[in-house]
Amino acid sequence: MERGPVGSRRAIELAVLDDVAAVARAAAAAICDWAAHHPGGVLGLATGATMVPVYRELARRDSRGHDGFRRVTAVNLDEYVGLGPGDPESFHHFMQRHLFGQVPFAARYIPNGVARDLDEECRRYDALLDHLGGVGLQVLGLGTNGHVGFNEPGTPWEARTHVAELSATTRAVNAATFGVGQHVPAAAITMGIRDIRRAQRLLMVAVGPHKAEALGNLLQEESSPHFPATALLDHQPPMQVLVDRAAARELSDW
Ligand code: GLP
Repeated sequence: MERGPVGSRRAIELAVLDDVAAVARAAAAAICDWAAHHPGGVLGLATGATMVPVYRELARRDSRGHDGFRRVTAVNLDEYVGLGPGDPESFHHFMQRHLFGQVPFAARYIPNGVARDLDEECRRYDALLDHLGGVGLQVLGLGTNGHVGFNEPGTPWEARTHVAELSATTRAVNAATFGVGQHVPAAAITMGIRDIRRAQRLLMVAVGPHKAEALGNLLQEESSPHFPATALLDHQPPMQVLVDRAAARELSDW
């Protein structure tokens, strides 16, 4: 594992692994290790294609006797506005299909994208996070525009759970997971950067050549709300970042 500061404030713990399968195994191992050492802990979870092999690996480990999640509370980062649990494109559905259907948790929470009062739902989610004492380990993907959760470029770092208007870029990228004729919602409820930054530990996963530019930006741009993931570069302990060779190809100086 390589460890290195980039500039004075920036430090991550980066591991460049051979391929997607190796990244999934390493991420699942890190999550299981954390769960084993934090019974009763709060695990922040992400959605997206990157997480599918990670969750498959967690389910495989669980079926082989790792039962550390039965005492862990899961809190998801986000949900599309307007999509309910029964909607195949919802993150509720994603989580049930890829993780919760196979791996039992003590409790699990996802923002309600069909709440009648969305602002009230955001406050409810913040109250839940406060009640839980914040996130222990937060698992994160990386949006091509630098978003984490659905904290889009320009989101203040002090933001808590809020309704985010999704950028054209994000909607175009995420359209790949929507069925023909299905439109990506214009908005989502997302945990804010403040609560992500306050997680005790951060684990980011990025794979594939389409993440190379974003990963390069994360490490080479000045920290700025214009590239939200840079808000995490001063985290202590440093954010663990697991990537495959394809995603790392622009990281020449690492
Ligand atoms: C999505 C989610 C993020 C996710 C990111 C990357 O829109 N809101 O939580 O990490 O974008 O997704 P993917 O793994 O499909 O590239």
